[in-house]
Amino acid sequence: MIVGSIKEDINLEKRVSITPETTKNIIALGLNVSLEKNYAVHLGIEDKQYEENGAKFYSSSKEVINNSNLVLKVNCPADGDIKALKEKTILVGIFNPSNNQDKLKEVLKKNINIFSLELLPRISRAQSMDVLSSQSNLAGYRAVIESIYEFEKAIPMMMTAAGTVPAAKVLVIGAGVAGLQAIATAKRLGAVVSATDVRAASKEQVESLGGKFLMVEQEENLETASGYAKEASEEFKKKQADLLKEAMIKNDIVICTALIPGRPAPRILNEELVKLMRPGSIIYDLAAEQGGNSAYSEVDKINIINGIKIIGIKNLMNKLPSTASSLYAKNLFSFVRNLYSKEKKEFNINLEDEIISKTLIKE
Ligand code: NAI
Repeated sequence: MIVGSIKEDINLEKRVSITPETTKNIIALGLNVSLEKNYAVHLGIEDKQYEENGAKFYSSSKEVINNSNLVLKVNCPADGDIKALKEKTILVGIFNPSNNQDKLKEVLKKNINIFSLELLPRISRAQSMDVLSSQSNLAGYRAVIESIYEFEKAIPMMMTAAGTVPAAKVLVIGAGVAGLQAIATAKRLGAVVSATDVRAASKEQVESLGGKFLMVEQEENLETASGYAKEASEEFKKKQADLLKEAMIKNDIVICTALIPGRPAPRILNEELVKLMRPGSIIYDLAAEQGGNSAYSEVDKINIINGIKIIGIKNLMNKLPSTASSLYAKNLFSFVRNLYSKEKKEFNINLEDEIISKTLIKE
């Protein structure tokens, strides 16, 4: 059985699905690895490094696809590569099924099993495969770094002979995986950090990282059984906006990470709240692609309103593709290991395993 991977469209996606390290791991399972020539040279990884660990190279994506039983990708394959896919091939990646319905239908017509890993259940057995966690964690870190780069002042408090520089204040909206890493990163860099979330359970996590939790007092339970947020009521939204008024005046940088699975991102900062910030402040909206938590945020743009920079970005992982790839490749390896039966020496699509049944895309 052969696990293959082809190059992504490098203008859109710099991550790769297999690293030299995971090549070794995949081969240790008893599988072979085939890759497209110059697979990860843009990350400074030569083909030789993969070959030393046992991978075989082909000069075109079509040859790789033809020689693979399972193809690992980051994004949806290009039309030409879809054409090349053979019947019964298995395709694994992050395919954003709600946005790529037409493309995925084409793939399904070819009797191909597609697994999309953003659909993984958040159970402990799936943690090592959890692409949302591994990539959101890095997004939270990088959002802080990018914000600080755009912020034209220092972050930590400094007491110098020339005077005292006050610490910058950072507010994190949404304290899930990305938000918690944003809090930890901003704290490490010396900022005074506060955060808010609809899930009361996040209070303790925020405080354990040294952040102050801004609690919207409410009766409703806005957490689902699986730990995600629900859409808030109008009454909650009003209370949250009131709570955030003072915070917007005080804070220098706001990192937005709030999401509700399967829905557009909640709009938390309206125009009025944004304009309460001082000129020179930053809003970094990680939810821009899902519609944005903040007014004025647009994908891949920095909009400047009253001197406040509102930043939205599509694929923040392209700013740290090596780290993102190393974690993503390990997530994929764990998924492949769970799918492969060493005894039968084949991929076993066991629909009784919820990791497999929940990630499998059906028509
Ligand atoms: P997410 O990316 O769906 O959302 C980010 C955060 O935004 C969440 O904390 C959510 O409560 C918050 N949010 C949504 N609407 C909001 C609003 N109107 N105002 C303020 N905040 C709002 O969430 P993520 O990061 O994927 O985590 C969701 C949950 O899953 C968390 O409880 C996390 O601990 C849990 N989890 C469990 C894992 C497991 O394997 N058991 C792995 C990873 C996360």
